[in-house]
Parts: sequence; structure tokens; C-alpha cells
Amino acid sequence: MTEVLKLCHEATGDEISLPVSEGTVRATDLLQLKVRGEPLATFDPGFFNTAVCHSAITYIDGDEGVLQYRGYRVEDLAENSTYLETAYLLLNGELPTAGQLADWEQTITEHRQLPDKLRILLNGFPYDAHPMSMLMASTAAFFTFYPDSQDYTDLASRALNIARLIGKMPTLAAFCYRKGKAKPYVDPDDSYGYCHNFLAMLFKQAERKYAADPRLIRAMEVLFILHADHEQNCSTNAVRSVASSGNDLYTCVSAGVGALHGPLHGGANEAVLKMLREIGSPDQIPEFVAAVKRGERRMMGFGHRVYKNYDPRAKIIRKAVADVFDITGVNPLLRVAQELEKIALNDEYFASRKLYPNVDFYSGLIYEALGFPPQMFTVLFAIPRTAGWLAQYQECVTDPELRIARPKQIYTGAGHRSYVPIAERG
Ligand code: CMC
Repeated sequence: MTEVLKLCHEATGDEISLPVSEGTVRATDLLQLKVRGEPLATFDPGFFNTAVCHSAITYIDGDEGVLQYRGYRVEDLAENSTYLETAYLLLNGELPTAGQLADWEQTITEHRQLPDKLRILLNGFPYDAHPMSMLMASTAAFFTFYPDSQDYTDLASRALNIARLIGKMPTLAAFCYRKGKAKPYVDPDDSYGYCHNFLAMLFKQAERKYAADPRLIRAMEVLFILHADHEQNCSTNAVRSVASSGNDLYTCVSAGVGALHGPLHGGANEAVLKMLREIGSPDQIPEFVAAVKRGERRMMGFGHRVYKNYDPRAKIIRKAVADVFDITGVNPLLRVAQELEKIALNDEYFASRKLYPNVDFYSGLIYEALGFPPQMFTVLFAIPRTAGWLAQYQECVTDPELRIARPKQIYTGAGHRSYVPIAERG
């Protein structure tokens, strides 16, 4: 039996019936009800309570702190899987067999190289360009090299371009990093796995082979798995919105990179480090927390639109911090972060608003310990999120319910005015 919600306009007595399906009513059903002659709409800046698509990729229970990709708990994937296996899962809906995984890894390895002309583009950026801006421009520029991606209905071409982008993302990121350090680029090494090769392209010096500590490779895999997807967040929404007008996947991912760059989204890990450095030492924390409570500061790396409990990714990263610091030595800001977390979790302001550490609270500390400058932190988020963006892109462009994204507005500007010639303006 269909559940129905009745909505009555008290002033006129007009009543409409809204069928409830999957816990939602259709916003367009509200159009039937006229209020002062105008069809009723909803007002929802920031999409607090508006579902924009059906999706079978990622499930989050924010109250319980649950995150699942295609039904698998992120904790299990972080424990047992690799990033490329997780990417396959996100894109195809199932974990690969051993044979499928070997083929997928081989395909991705074959697509690691950047086009020569893209290197020229990278060289053209200022020496101190932000790597996220370089990443955004370069991902968009890929479309000029791979225009076949325009036909997103062609399954083979879509699969090829997805593999191209997942393969090239670490190379692009490593080149952006080395450009900032005025170091020569290191070409991909096909004998290494995805994360090992990334570390080699970043940190190789004069040695013939770069041998990364296996614990660091594993830490990188875990960080990449945790960042691979997060359902309809700001950057995924940007990807889907740009896809809705019929764009190729490079243009869409470039939009995602741009959205991710913001300090309230992926840029938060960079902002956390800045905040911890500003606080400086545990004795300065009470003053900082008081400024947050007065609304003068924001506690970066805390709070989440969906999680009203400890972010499950933050829990795993907190554990990884210890493993990485065993190898790299302890980042002295860890003490400030731990003390800040302790004080905030016991403070009424944070408790009443259900503000807990999110994925970005500890990830920056790891990245810094690994030798990355803060501008690279969000790039390290963008590489693995590419799998999620592409899975969401794929789902979006094959969705029979897809319509071009076009929200309504409530106009608050001037009414009609007669044009004033320039000579008559005061
Ligand atoms: N520090 C202090 N107060 C906060 C914070 C914070 N980090 N986050 C939320 N609040 C307060 C906010 O002021 C508001 O209080 P009041 O009800 O008194 O006005 C209340 O909590 C609700 O916050 P909101 O801004 O309505 O929540 P939102 O869902 O719009 O914002 C958020 C979510 C993530 C943008 C926000 O929590 C924030 O700015 N956090 C810091 C930035 C950050 O760490 N971002 C990374 C998010 S996780 C990675 C990702 O997926 O991108």
C-alpha cells in the first residue's frame, strides 16, 4: 500500500496528497498546491534535506558512524583490500576475482604516463602555483588529448577513459609536487604497484630504484581507501551537476577537484595543520576553544554534515598515525591535536552540536610526517576520490532519471526598472 501524506493550506482549505516513497515526497508534487497563486516549492540551501539521485555506491549512517562501499564496511576494506581493488568495487559493484584484479591493475599501470604536451602545460605554471589549481587545470586539459570521452554513451570508450584518469592521477599529482620543489619529474615505474609507484615518483632521488618502506605503502593504501568515495558530498555533487549537462568525465572530475579544494571540504586537512600550528602548544588550547565558542574561529577537522558521531575514517586514521610515526618520528603537533580532541569531546558546545573529529583531523599530521607540504594535502585526497567521482559519474550518466541540474531561486532583487542612459545617471 502506498503511503500518502496530506498537506493542507489552512487559509484556503486546499489540500493535496503526496505519495511517500523511499522516505521521500517528490518535490514536483508540491507544485499542485498554490499559495497566493504561486505553486509551492521547497527552500533548501546546502541540500540539507533533499535527495538528488538514487545511488547504489556508498552508504552512510551518520548517527551510527557507518560507512560502506557497495555494502562492504570501510573498516574491512581498509584492513584487507588495496586501493585499486576498492576502486574496482566502486566502479563495478562487486569485488574482483584474482584474475579480474590482475587485469585491472595491468590496465591501470598501462595508463600511468602523461601526454608529453601536458608536461609543457605543467611547466608553464608559476613555480609556486598551488598544486590543486594545477591538478584542476590539468584534469580539464585531458579532454583536449582524449576527445573520444565526449561520447559517454560508448561503454568501451568510457571504460578506457576511466582507466586513463585513475592511472594518470598519481603521475599528475607527483609532477605537481616535484615542480613545486624544482626537481626533475620521475617517470612511472611499471614494476611497482599503484601506491609504491606514487611514492617513488614523489620522493626518488638519484638512486636507481626507490624502495619505499612497506608500512608506508600500506598506510598510503589505507588513506586512499578511506578517501575513495563519500556519497553526495560537495565535490561529488559538482561532478554530477556538471555531468548533467552532458559533459565528458575529465571536465566533470576537474569540477570535482575545484570543489574539493575549498577549506570546508577537502581543503580542511591543510587548514587543520595551519590551525594546530597557530595554537602551537597545549596550554594555548583553552583560549582557542573559547574563540571557537564565541563564533570567532572554526575548529577545522571537526564536524560533518552527515556524521553526528565519530567519523569512522577518522578512527582508522588515528590508528594509522601511530604506525606512520613509528617510521617517520612523531610530529610534535600530534600532542596539540590529541589534547584539542580531548578537550573538545568533553565540552558542551561540541557535544550538543554533535561535533566529532572528521577524516581531516589527523590525515594532515600523517601527510606532514611523510614530508608533504600542506598545499599537497588536498591533492592526496583528490587522487583516491577520483575513483568515487568516476563511479558516481558513471552512475549519473546512465541514470534514466537524470535531468539537467537546475535549482530554483527566490528572487530578492529590484522589480522592473526603465533603462537610464549613462548621461542621466547620478
Ligand atoms: N567548529 C565550530 N563550530 C562548528 C563546526 C566547527 N568545525 N562545525 C559546525 N559547527 C557549529 C556551527 O557553527 C553551528 O552552530 P550553531 O547551531 O550554533 O549555529 C552547528 O555546529 C551546525 O553547523 P553547520 O555549519 O550548520 O553544519 P554544516 O553541516 O553546514 O557544516 C561542515 C558541515 C563540515 C562544513 C562544518 O562542520 C565545518 O565547517 N567543519 C570544519 C571544516 C571541516 O573539517 N571540513 C571537512 C569535512 S570532512 C571531509 C569532507 O568530506 O569534505
